[in-house]
Formats: sequence, structure tokens, C-alpha cells
Amino acid sequence: MSDELVRVAKAAQESAYAPYSNFHVGAAIESEDGRIFSGCNVENASYGLTICAERAAVGVAISSGVRRITKVVVVTDANPPSAPCGGCRQVLAEFGDDIEIVAVGPGGSRSWNITDLLPDKFGRRDLESKGSN
Ligand code: THU
Repeated sequence: MSDELVRVAKAAQESAYAPYSNFHVGAAIESEDGRIFSGCNVENASYGLTICAERAAVGVAISSGVRRITKVVVVTDANPPSAPCGGCRQVLAEFGDDIEIVAVGPGGSRSWNITDLLPDKFGRRDLESKGSN
């Protein structure tokens, strides 16, 4: 596991804004060209507007020109460590078919490939394959 990604994700977790859930999440993303980006969860008094850490990190990465993601580390205080939520799986899957996802918590870590977490994703191929009606 990349120590640098874990370090960056933990630093992002420190910035989590989670006064409602008190569930602090940090994410670090590595792009195909080796750059690292981070994000944290950003909650809101209007709960449904909350932004997950993974999606915050995707926004930063994409805003810096990234189009291919190779690895994601998500840090929480959960044991066992939490995997990304369903919405974040879909958002991450937009940017890679072979993304390694590592969840880190106080009791250790576990990892998956994005295809384990989101088999049969909805993707651009679905849009291209629609009929003419
Ligand atoms: N959260 C994330 O940041 N990432 C996930 O994949 C799951 C949930 C956040 C959203 C909210 O601020 C808190 O965790 C509790 O749901």
C-alpha cells in the first residue's frame, strides 16, 4: 500500500466537516500520471447536500486535469474500515476500469478493485448502445 496516499488521506480526514454525523472521512486519489489529490466529507445542515470525501477528491483531481484514476485510499474511524458508498463507486468508476480502492481504519485495511465494488457499472457504453427509438 502506498504510505504517501495513506498519509495524505489521513491529513484530509483531519479537515472533515462532519458536525452532524461526526463520521470523519478522508480520501486520497492517485492519477495515472502519479499525482495525488485529496478530499474530505463536507456536511450541510440540509443533510442531503452533504458531499462525500471521495467525490470531493474527484472534484479536485478532475479540476486539475486528471481523467484516469488508478488508486484511491479512504480513511475512516470505522472498524472494519468503510468501503466507499454506492454513489461514490459510480463516480470513481467513471475514471477507471481498474482502480484499486483501499479502505483504512484503526484496525487495519482492506482493499478491492472497483469492479469488485461495482460490477456491471452503468457507463458511457450504455449511452452509445441505445436504439434509435
Ligand atoms: N461519507 C463519505 O464521505 N464517503 C462515503 O463513501 C460514505 C459516507 C460521509 C458522508 C457523511 O458526511 C458521513 O460520511 C456519514 O454518512
